[in-house]
Amino acid sequence: IAEDGYRLWLRYNTIDNATLLQQYRLQITSINCAADNDILKAAQQELQTGLSGLLGREIPAQKAVTNGTILMGLPTHLPFIHQLVDDTALARLGEEGFIIRTIRHEGKNVTLITGNKEAGILYGAFHFLRLLQTQQPITSLNISSAPKIHLRLLNHWDNLNRTVERGYAGCSIWDWQRLPGYIDQRYLDYARANASIGINGTVLTNVNANAMILTAPWLQKVAALARVFRPYNIKVYLTARFSAPVEIGKLKTADPLNDQVQKWWKDKADEIYRLIPDFGGFLVKANSEGQPGPQSYQRTHADGANMLADAVAPHGGIVMWRAFVYSSESPEDRFKQAYNEFKPLDGQFRKNVLIQVKNGPIDFQPREPFHPLFGAMPQTPLMMEYQLTQEYTGFATHLVYLGPLFKEILNADTHAKSNNSSVAQIVEGTADNHTLSGMAGVSNIGSDINWTGHPFGQANWYTLGRLAWDNTLTAQQIANEWIRQTFSNKQAFVDTVQKLMLASREIMVNYMTPLGLHHIMGYGHHYGPAPWYNKAPRADWNPVYFHKADSIGIGFNRTATGSNALAQYQPAVQQQFEHMATCPEQFLLWFHHVPWNYKLQSGKTLWETLCIKYYSGVDSVRWMQRSWNGLQRFIDEERFKQVQQLLAIQEQEAVWWRNACVLYFQTFSNKPVPAGYEQPD
Ligand code: GCU
Repeated sequence: IAEDGYRLWLRYNTIDNATLLQQYRLQITSINCAADNDILKAAQQELQTGLSGLLGREIPAQKAVTNGTILMGLPTHLPFIHQLVDDTALARLGEEGFIIRTIRHEGKNVTLITGNKEAGILYGAFHFLRLLQTQQPITSLNISSAPKIHLRLLNHWDNLNRTVERGYAGCSIWDWQRLPGYIDQRYLDYARANASIGINGTVLTNVNANAMILTAPWLQKVAALARVFRPYNIKVYLTARFSAPVEIGKLKTADPLNDQVQKWWKDKADEIYRLIPDFGGFLVKANSEGQPGPQSYQRTHADGANMLADAVAPHGGIVMWRAFVYSSESPEDRFKQAYNEFKPLDGQFRKNVLIQVKNGPIDFQPREPFHPLFGAMPQTPLMMEYQLTQEYTGFATHLVYLGPLFKEILNADTHAKSNNSSVAQIVEGTADNHTLSGMAGVSNIGSDINWTGHPFGQANWYTLGRLAWDNTLTAQQIANEWIRQTFSNKQAFVDTVQKLMLASREIMVNYMTPLGLHHIMGYGHHYGPAPWYNKAPRADWNPVYFHKADSIGIGFNRTATGSNALAQYQPAVQQQFEHMATCPEQFLLWFHHVPWNYKLQSGKTLWETLCIKYYSGVDSVRWMQRSWNGLQRFIDEERFKQVQQLLAIQEQEAVWWRNACVLYFQTFSNKPVPAGYEQPD
């Protein structure tokens, strides 16, 4: 039974709709693939496994073309494609796009899956399987699809001792001790799952990096993983510890302008590429939270990034340099630091450097405004960093579908340009004509049987891949296809679960951090409420620093009369937030210190609204429970029970959040909870 969780969205159970199954069986009879390369072999293998499962009968790979053949190949294998598809349409596919078309070929009805490169065919094969898994018609297909973002990556925060920073789904899946000799089947299934959603790269190691990974024996292990992933078009990347030349290179300095240091990194890159010719490059966290970096040598982020970029450039590698920085001493507002440090460096980075920016200015909160760097560095490709692992959003215990959060950020208009500067357009590179573009998700994967701990955590992994491929997909579309593949196509089930998923993020905001509250979680571990905490070694790690509740009101004034972080946005964005009266309620306490008695647009006071949000958050979790309880007949008992138990914990913890926050903030507001609501004790 446990297999149900393990198989993720690649279950390939036989289609449970008899009529449709009948049709599919006529439309799909065999596979013809010029599998002369590892990627095509993987595509053929997946299609064969998938189709045989879905159709409940063996679908053979064969040379002959008959009615119902799935014909896979490049235009070089199948020259007739050039008559069928014009050159511009082919060019638009790039190196990873695909075409799926129903055609007549040699007098037979066949489905063609093609692309300019093998990777496109792999993605096309997975897309075709998705159509069947979600029970779509395949009678007259004419699909053309190419990824909008080039680097679609997972970032594992996995340590070499197999602990996972902010990981809630067991240990790291990288079994370093037994690598390179032992290849766990899980690596292959990991690669299949990622390829199925278009993920084409993985950073194997934690951003709080250990230089050891760059030593020869460890690189052998990395190379073994790279070999498993290569047929799935997935490149490996590593985090580079900036002080590695000192720690493992025996140099006296890691100064990026020092000749020996530069040579050390060049030699290291050469060594890596000898073992892993398609190595992706480095991800770097520098001068942040105690990590070493160029500033330790009075150099800039650009000096550091460029040195590494020069080392990997001859091999086609890239550097993803993170903008998540804050200095060791407390600044007046942590919100502002990344922008202050990075914006002046715009234009100074090498062509193969991307700056990787978290979606919001603080740290993966239930709700944040978009990061002010988006739109502020037109000469530099900015890569999006989302967090799939739910550090601040209920770990692997709470059911929170992050699709709406991801989309809210992508849809936000930076106003950096008049009409094409949504965060999505900045990240895609279309706003400023960048050829490099990227989106990363901090992985929520671990050694748990079902990979992500919470069965619904899988949806967040799935969404990252799908959105990186096509950010015009809606959170609803993605949830819908994920549910159908992962659980069931039964309409009543799909409708109920989709509703529940789409509501889940706002529900969590309501019981944790309504109205723009942020970072009031337990100190250090970030689980559960601790708005009262004020003992951290630095002021800006304390929840009290973020909510600033006092006898007058609550919230962080980031307008011109406060920290003025708002000035980091374009004037049109500033306008949206700068006045208490017009600031959208969901961001109110992000930008304003609002009096308890202040009347919001609804006519209710801030205090009343705050309470009502906390109470409604709890009620909504109870609604989620009731919805789920009605679904038992649709799915396997194991996953049904897992989710049921987790929702029960979520309900208790929503009450915990509500009571803790209402009681604590009440010590400042000195007001009763609104009429009709029960005072917690
Ligand atoms: C958060 C998280 C850390 C992590 C850091 C980062 O602060 O709590 O564990 O290292 O983000 O993104 O670098």
